[in-house]
Amino acid sequence: MANRTHHPSVFLVVITILLSIYQSEQRQSQQSLILLRIQQILNFPVESSNWNNNHLDFCKGDSNSSSLTVVCYEGNITQLHIIGDRTSPLAKNFSMDSFVKTLTRLPSLKVLTLASLGLWGSLPDKIARLQSLEIVNVSSNFLYGALPREVSSLSNLQTLILDNNLFSGRLPNWLDSLSTLRVLSLKNNVFNGSLPNSLGSLENLRILSLSHNHFFGLVPDLSQLTNLQVLELDDNAFGPQFPRLGNKLVTLVLRNNSFRTGIPAGLSSYFQLEQFDISSNTFVGPFQPSLLSLPSITYLNISGNRLTGKLFENLSCNTQLEVVDLSSNLLTGSVPKCLISNFSNRTILYARNCLETRNQIQQPAPFCHTEALAVGILPDIKKKHKEKVSKVVISLGIVGGTLAGVALALLTFFLVRRGNSRRRMKNPPTRFISENAASGYTSKLLSEARYISQTKKFGTVGLPSYRSFSLEEIEAATNYFDTASLMSEDSYGKMYRGQLKNDSLVAIRCIKLKKRYSTQNFAHHIELISKLRHRHLVSALGHCFECSLEDSSVSKIFLVFEYIPNGTLRSWISDGDTMKSMSWIQRLGAVTGIAKGVQFLHTGIVPGVYSNNINAEDVLLDQNLVAKICSYNLPLLSNIGKIQHGSSSSGSKNSSMKKSVNYEDKSDIYHLGVILLELILGRAIILSKDADAFKELLQATIVADEEARRSIIDPAIRKECLDQSLKTMMEICVRCLTKEPAERPSIEDVLWNLQFAAQVQDAWRGDSQSSEGGSPPALSPLQSRRVSFH
Ligand SMILES: *[C@@H]1O[C@H](CO)[C@@H](O)[C@H](O)[C@H]1NC(C)=O
Ligand SMILES: *[C@@H]1O[C@H](CO)[C@@H](O)[C@H](O)[C@H]1NC(C)=O
Ligand SMILES: *[C@@H]1O[C@H](CO)[C@@H](O)[C@H](O)[C@H]1NC(C)=O
Ligand SMILES: *[C@@H]1O[C@H](CO)[C@@H](O)[C@H](O)[C@H]1NC(C)=O
Ligand SMILES: *[C@@H]1O[C@H](CO)[C@@H](O)[C@H](O)[C@H]1NC(C)=O
Ligand SMILES: *[C@@H]1O[C@H](CO)[C@@H](O)[C@H](O)[C@H]1NC(C)=O
Ligand SMILES: *[C@@H]1O[C@H](CO)[C@@H](O)[C@H](O)[C@H]1NC(C)=O
Ligand SMILES: *[C@@H]1O[C@H](CO)[C@@H](O)[C@H](O)[C@H]1NC(C)=O
Ligand SMILES: *[C@@H]1O[C@H](CO)[C@@H](O)[C@H](O)[C@H]1NC(C)=O
Ligand SMILES: *[C@@H]1O[C@H](CO)[C@@H](O)[C@H](O)[C@H]1NC(C)=O
Repeated sequence: MANRTHHPSVFLVVITILLSIYQSEQRQSQQSLILLRIQQILNFPVESSNWNNNHLDFCKGDSNSSSLTVVCYEGNITQLHIIGDRTSPLAKNFSMDSFVKTLTRLPSLKVLTLASLGLWGSLPDKIARLQSLEIVNVSSNFLYGALPREVSSLSNLQTLILDNNLFSGRLPNWLDSLSTLRVLSLKNNVFNGSLPNSLGSLENLRILSLSHNHFFGLVPDLSQLTNLQVLELDDNAFGPQFPRLGNKLVTLVLRNNSFRTGIPAGLSSYFQLEQFDISSNTFVGPFQPSLLSLPSITYLNISGNRLTGKLFENLSCNTQLEVVDLSSNLLTGSVPKCLISNFSNRTILYARNCLETRNQIQQPAPFCHTEALAVGILPDIKKKHKEKVSKVVISLGIVGGTLAGVALALLTFFLVRRGNSRRRMKNPPTRFISENAASGYTSKLLSEARYISQTKKFGTVGLPSYRSFSLEEIEAATNYFDTASLMSEDSYGKMYRGQLKNDSLVAIRCIKLKKRYSTQNFAHHIELISKLRHRHLVSALGHCFECSLEDSSVSKIFLVFEYIPNGTLRSWISDGDTMKSMSWIQRLGAVTGIAKGVQFLHTGIVPGVYSNNINAEDVLLDQNLVAKICSYNLPLLSNIGKIQHGSSSSGSKNSSMKKSVNYEDKSDIYHLGVILLELILGRAIILSKDADAFKELLQATIVADEEARRSIIDPAIRKECLDQSLKTMMEICVRCLTKEPAERPSIEDVLWNLQFAAQVQDAWRGDSQSSEGGSPPALSPLQSRRVSFH
């Protein structure tokens, strides 16, 4: 009160005359004391030179400065905005609890902004005493912990902004009790877990911004939020399904998450959509060009996905478009004319697709087909007639994304002339098998191709036996080849997703034949395909011939494959994204699976299947992250076109064949090395010169210290992987990448090392988790085995 008598305000003179106003004045002076107290608690000297003891009549509106704004209604403070510029937390003696306690003495507060003040601590439940609160913005402080449950009793709350703090934990399930909530913004915190379904019933919500947290999992159904205009989910690990949303959205940002499905067709009815950003995910399937012509669209960014489809010059686009970024997808065709504009106020990017343009760097056409499967049938039969013996390699590949797995088969066709030299017997038994195969390549031998007994051990876990399907079954599975089931299409034919009667999902490759053959012609192909079944291969479940009515020749072949839902291994590696990455043990598991798959291809079938050119795109992961190779070479004798195999050549082979078999064997080891490298470094490696460079780097750190090793590996696994395990992996990786094929390790050697690395890691985990621990794993035999391979 002493303060007040020094204050020469006319206002005060007037109010002392009226009793009612006197009370209000008392209240005001009381409030001014509270403000002073707040100032004191916030240790607020520098920022507010004009926030001093003379500002008692703050309600007159002259107490606003850049840092403090107070708004009163009938003498009560209803709005308080304090904005600082602190970038570090307040001193140790600050107490969030007593600060909020002071604030609660302003019970009429409706709007509260406390930004960049260095506030730290958890949000006290006392905040609920401010029952009038409608708008709260406490952004850019150091508040941490979970949201207190008492917040749910703030029944007038319309806007809650907690951006740029350290709040953590799951988003609570009681959010739906804030039924008046219009804005919820939690950007840049460390919230985690999946979103509660109750979010979907906040029907007044207009803005939901959860950017840059550690959320993951499915986005709950938000289609009932008819008022939702802004949804920002970027920099989390949401996925894999595209969220279900109402169509009033204006801004939709899904950037940098783990979405892996297709873009729903319904988006083309989002007439208010202005900003659409789904970049840096693994969206698959067709890109809908109609998005370019949405009536309100101004910003469209789909870069860094795996969207397919053909663009045409004559497409139309909205003239208001300011930014279009289509780069790094699998688009083909031509750049739409409407995008190539002269306006300098536009940004149009489309590099790293397979478009026909010289303006921005594009990938070679096959790049955009790498995910398609087609079993091509021999391109030129006459040519083969000239050769005595030919070897046809059909490369089968399937890639299943969740929605648009696609598959490819390249038909490579190479001819090997027979010679007379005999193959040396220097190789281990596995290659002895392939030698036997190489000695014949007669149709008889191939028709007798069998699993060798060893492969029984591997088993084909849970797969129904191979069978032929009826056309009716195929039609039912694909809903009569409905476009909704179409996953991809390329020059070889179409790939459909289908569902069999027993509900299991399958991928169905449809191959149209240009020439007519009898089903007999395919017997060997089918038999071999039916035998390539293994836990670590994407396996064929069956086939179906569609025959023409006139001459019963085959006009189409359908190959039915198991459907692998969890995307490619590459999609799990992608560069520095820690949220969707695999743990060290999972990586070891995946690469061991691939190695087993390769071992099966080399030794599990006669003749061995070599030169599979496997990369991280050719490996799919199932729901348990079991790795399955989806692209492999299937060596087949050509029996189409009735090639004669002269008996003069039987039992003889030439040195070039021997050499190539040797190299084929070790070329798979090299590619395995590249995959290992990607898993260790957590980055995609496409160019062989990159593989060389990183191999050198690995080599250097193997002999350096542990710190050096850790510094180069994927940050996501830095903490968890044990150095000995890491070092073992690095060593085997470097050996796989040796330039000289003969010096690369055998597949068995690779497997031993991988299992060793896993065992070391596992033992350590066991030790650190339970002190009892059981018996320590027998490292020594493995260790000595491992050393012996050096
Ligand atoms: C906290 O400590 C600082 C000195 O470190 C002092 O100036 C300030 O008055 C103290 N604040 C409170 C609320 O005790
Ligand atoms: C304070 O607010 C009043 C009304 O909101 C405004 O007229 C005045 O210019 C502001 N003063 C300062 C210093 O910002
Ligand atoms: C102002 O605050 C007092 C005491 O907190 C309360 O009784 C009064 O109703 C408030 N007036 C308005 C207009 O909110
Ligand atoms: C919260 O307040 C700060 C400081 O005034 C402001 O910069 C920020 O934009 C506000 N946040 C929102 C979402 O309005
Ligand atoms: C979420 O964060 C909390 C605290 O930060 C942590 O204890 C918990 O393990 C995290 N949960 C998940 C699933 O990551
Ligand atoms: C992607 O999001 C994660 C957090 O989820 C973040 O750490 C990372 O920096 C983001 N990547 C990019 C390129 O913004
Ligand atoms: C599109 O998104 C990517 C990744 O999120 C980003 O790097 C790029 O700058 C964006 N493009 C434009 C034109 O803003
Ligand atoms: C655009 O061109 C493609 C082929 O160039 C053609 O099939 C299509 O009908 C054309 N569309 C329109 C709307 O003209
Ligand atoms: C870009 O500039 C042109 C002419 O300068 C104008 O007609 C057009 O509306 C502008 N477009 C946008 C998206 O600003
Ligand atoms: C670009 O400008 C030139 C000359 O001004 C004009 O002839 C051409 O049609 C323009 N191209 C587009 C795509 O607008």
